[in-house]
Amino acid sequence: MAAPLIDSFGRVHRDLRISVTDRCNFRCTYCMPAEGMAWLPRSEVLTFEEIYRVARIMVERFGLESIRLTGGEPTVRAHLPRLVEMLATLGVDLALTTNGATLAILAPELAAAGLRRINVSCDSLRPDRFAEITKRDSLHKVLEGIDAALAAGLNPVKLNVVAMRGVNEDELLDFAAFGRDKGVTVRYIEFMPLDAQQAWTNDQVLTYDEIRRTISDAYPIEPLERGSAPAERFRYLDGKGEIGIIASVTQSFCESCDRVRLTSEGSFRTCLFATEEQALRPLLRAGGTDDEIAQVIARAVSEKWAGHRINEVHFIRPSKSMSQIGG
Ligand code: GTP
Ligand code: 5AD
Ligand code: SF4
Repeated sequence: MAAPLIDSFGRVHRDLRISVTDRCNFRCTYCMPAEGMAWLPRSEVLTFEEIYRVARIMVERFGLESIRLTGGEPTVRAHLPRLVEMLATLGVDLALTTNGATLAILAPELAAAGLRRINVSCDSLRPDRFAEITKRDSLHKVLEGIDAALAAGLNPVKLNVVAMRGVNEDELLDFAAFGRDKGVTVRYIEFMPLDAQQAWTNDQVLTYDEIRRTISDAYPIEPLERGSAPAERFRYLDGKGEIGIIASVTQSFCESCDRVRLTSEGSFRTCLFATEEQALRPLLRAGGTDDEIAQVIARAVSEKWAGHRINEVHFIRPSKSMSQIGG
């Protein structure tokens, strides 16, 4: 019988984000340290069987309802469609967040393996600026990837834009027009202090209010009902789809958080901003039983904190960057 994975604040956790690799084929300025990253040795990365086992235990014991694959960049992990096929047997909502650069090749295989929907990250629609942010001249590949995802029937296709003052604030409406034209849901994300350079400052955050005002001045929108997801959703009144705003900084949604994370090296994290994590890999590799693994997970969740304190003086940045935690 599945018992809910509940913390001391009464939040029920039904959503697992799994980082399948810390590697990436991009080098985004806000994600990777300028000097590059030391990738984990392969032996320290969970195998597909180990990932599947943790996910299965969480579905069976705790009634997990959704799984998202992240990275680094998940599509650089060899044979990713095989993992998708394995996880799809668990009957949960299965999603993937990717930089999109390899989707032109992989989208049909991922869809055939059982993936239903996808989120693509892209912070500029201008080739030069895109190359500056990612250190790769790959905008054309990402745009082809989005087309391939749509053609493969992945639905919805969402486009994640980290909105940064002084970087892409002049493109908010270009993204909106792109989304309306393609039938893609654009989600504007407030920039969080998770950058590898530790260069984040509050004034770089384009806020929820600013984003909402800019979009609604050009295209009338109305709010849609919000679930536990981080995005506040709006629909265009003229019927041309919807957008989302993820206001992690100015309107934290920690009080309704329902997610936990498994890192590529097999550690369990209860928060994006957690400063501690539980290593499951030793248990997985030393004959730990399902009961023992479930116990570590349940205990970690029972001790979960109320939420990040980005806006308070006591905020401590996690020592890991976004590419290591997996978004
Ligand atoms: P869906 O709405 O289910 O498609 O997914 P999502 O928005 O949760 O996932 P996605 O991987 O596309 O993440 C979008 C943004 O939300 C990224 O910037 C994430 O870092 C951020 N995000 C995801 N989960 C959390 C969370 O638990 N806390 C915070 N503060 N931000 C999160
Ligand atoms: N703040 C907000 N979102 C971020 N992402 C990466 N770094 C940050 C940050 N510092 C986004 C990526 C991707 C998702 C997993 O998280 O662009 O869409
Ligand atoms: Fe790679 Fe995503 Fe980090 Fe960019 S933000 S370097 S695409 S993991």
